[in-house]
Amino acid sequence: MSLNLLLVLVLYAIGLMVALRVGGHRSGSIAPATGSRNRPERILIIGATGRTGRQLVTQALERGFAVTAFARDPSQLEMRHPRLAIAQGNVLDPASLEAAIPGHDAVVSALGHKRYFSLSSTHAEGTRHILAAMQRHKVRRFVCLTSLGLGDSAGRLGMPYNLFVIPLLLPIYFLDKARQERLIAKSDVEWIIVRPGSLNNGVKRDRVNSGSRVGSYLWTVRVSRANVADFVLNQLTSDAYLRSAPGLAW
Ligand SMILES: NC(=O)c1ccc[n+]([C@@H]2O[C@H](COP(=O)([O-])OP(=O)(O)OC[C@H]3O[C@@H](n4cnc5c(N)ncnc54)[C@H](OP(=O)(O)O)[C@@H]3O)[C@@H](O)[C@H]2O)c1
Repeated sequence: MSLNLLLVLVLYAIGLMVALRVGGHRSGSIAPATGSRNRPERILIIGATGRTGRQLVTQALERGFAVTAFARDPSQLEMRHPRLAIAQGNVLDPASLEAAIPGHDAVVSALGHKRYFSLSSTHAEGTRHILAAMQRHKVRRFVCLTSLGLGDSAGRLGMPYNLFVIPLLLPIYFLDKARQERLIAKSDVEWIIVRPGSLNNGVKRDRVNSGSRVGSYLWTVRVSRANVADFVLNQLTSDAYLRSAPGLAW
């Protein structure tokens, strides 16, 4: 790679990082918040057929929640359980969310896709519809997965992501997720944005780091989807991170 090309890439990567920082949620100084006191019992899981979504469904059932799995194609979810219901729908179709969301105490989102090079705004548009339906039907708590590398965690997915993966493969995906974060933070539901590091399918470890200082500007931090699901479900009954965006990594 010529020196000029490298320089252009570095400048573009820095510009994108600034855009993701400004575009995503930045905490500012928010007073500690408390949420509603009732323990949620019925939860709707968006992205239930995905790799983290399946962990969420399994672990939520283990914890005793009544779970509705929101899925574009319910036949993809082969799990059966007396406390598991399935709602067919698409986050880009507000009517399907209007039908699925009422009657739940909380919504959890592990929405994602792999159309990295299409001009997709699935995260932001889908989340706009989710929040509108939640507000209309007075569903209070929303726990949503985004990623390290957004808002005040910009840069914290490490050099390989900052310089290559995000600028070359995922700029549209990350800009969409930054907009998703901003929409959530502007809403008046009880929201928690969870920003994991790079995900894998490893087992759940006992020790996991969470908070605003998670991640590294140099190397890529990782965490398993099993740990992510565990942490996300903890947020349904804890106000520790209410209206904030903790990072999460081993
Ligand atoms: N992969 C990583 O290293 C990484 C790192 C940090 C954060 N994250 C974030 O963590 C989250 C979960 O990641 P993952 O790898 O577990 O995701 P995944 O396996 O790709 O699953 C994504 C889920 O979203 C669903 N979905 C996509 N478009 C939809 C739509 N229009 N309406 C309804 N559902 C839709 C998919 O349904 P179908 O089964 O129908 O496609 C699938 O169930 C994502 O937000 C991702 O950005 C990932």
